[in-house]
Amino acid sequence: MELPFAESFKIKMVEKLKRSTQREREEWIKNAKYNLFNIKSEQVFIDLLTDSGTGAMSDKQWSELMLGDESYAGASSYYKMKSAIKSIFNFNYFLPTHQGRAAENVLFSVLIKEGNIVPGNSHFDTTKGHIEFRKATAVDCTIDEAFNTTLIHPFKGNVDLGKLEKVLTSNPIEKIPVIIVTITCNSSGGQPVSMQNLKEVYTLAQKFKVPVFFDSARFAENAYFIKLREKGYENKSIKEIVREMFSYADGMTMSSKKDAIVNMGGFIGFKNEQLFKDASVFNIMFEGFITYGGMSGRDMNALAQGLDESTEFDYLETRIKQVEYLGNKLIEYNIPIQQPIGGHAIFIDAKRFLPNLKKEDYIAQTLAVEIYIEGGVRGVEIGTVMADRDPVTHENRYPDLELVRLAIPRRVYTNNHMNYVAATIINVFNRRESITTGLNITKEAPILRHFTAEFERK
Ligand code: F0G
Repeated sequence: MELPFAESFKIKMVEKLKRSTQREREEWIKNAKYNLFNIKSEQVFIDLLTDSGTGAMSDKQWSELMLGDESYAGASSYYKMKSAIKSIFNFNYFLPTHQGRAAENVLFSVLIKEGNIVPGNSHFDTTKGHIEFRKATAVDCTIDEAFNTTLIHPFKGNVDLGKLEKVLTSNPIEKIPVIIVTITCNSSGGQPVSMQNLKEVYTLAQKFKVPVFFDSARFAENAYFIKLREKGYENKSIKEIVREMFSYADGMTMSSKKDAIVNMGGFIGFKNEQLFKDASVFNIMFEGFITYGGMSGRDMNALAQGLDESTEFDYLETRIKQVEYLGNKLIEYNIPIQQPIGGHAIFIDAKRFLPNLKKEDYIAQTLAVEIYIEGGVRGVEIGTVMADRDPVTHENRYPDLELVRLAIPRRVYTNNHMNYVAATIINVFNRRESITTGLNITKEAPILRHFTAEFERK
């Protein structure tokens, strides 16, 4: 008999999950104004709100916590992180920050000015938020294939070089301070960017002397897909692939809460010493001294260890196969999901799932609420609510895709949990015809509104 696939870890510590009834959940979500961010975690059975900061650290990471050096300046933990960043990404300079958006805030404080244009592949919402907060514009240059959820393409995160070149040639070049490539591309479904595309973007950017930064939260998952899908990389190690990927960037911002498998942390990596020095000023103002920047020594240690673990093939295989397991179950029952299945999450195509709703109903938000009520599974809306209003016209922006994301935390749930999630979604799918009304927004913040918006049923 061929031996089946099995996880590359065993479990040393467990945490109790609380069950609840549908009636309780209906009451809780109503009180939470139909915003899943307002629900207490104990009111959730399986929490797929995010894979950010929700992973389980390894025994080695926990042991690193004990070795943390909490010195204000020059801590050994800083040097441990520095050496991990050098060995994995080959960047000589870095600044620790407390999380990914803090890295964006520090870097953009140096790079981005009012009226600037920042091209990239479907910028993540905090990235776009930090760009628009500075009265600059994020231009999405993702390939068109990404917006068709049924089309199979191995690298749906790719940048369309034609679109990018048009942005570079049709604007004064001094208005374009940076190109941001998000790997994997969260907003288009956790989809990877190919090595070839990273290389071509960098070559084009160098021609125009515009720096390229990678938004690298899920860089290791991106490397796994390159190994599996791109010719010439099948025999390379993940670490070799990562090294090559980052040779096509001038720097990186990192939310370490994803592919460094820590609960909190981030950093900025730089090739250029002057940019590092300029950013250091803002790091000290916003985050902390440059050798800790918003992180404690123990967290820097765990982060360094996490970077090493997340760039091991066995870990990535276990991780991504679990996401695939859930995705394939849903496909089996004809649930419309973004395909191919991404690295960190399943993205349900809410427009195809709930054809009776109009775009003004906040389709994906409505579906996320129904899924929660059905089984106590918490996902997140990636649709009109997250897209915010147009900063100029203040009209709702209706993105091409209305998605509900089910993000799988790293090393946390078993495949039985995935079976439970699948059954929950299938039950909602079976009663989809009866879902004919959506939600209204009753309160919202001017930017990043999805975190705090309040809704009522129509
Ligand atoms: N970039 C990407 C691609 C992200 O997915 C995130 C966060 C950030 C930057 C910001 O990092 O949260 O550490 O400040 N994504 C989380 C998510 C929140 O649920 O996808 P952060």
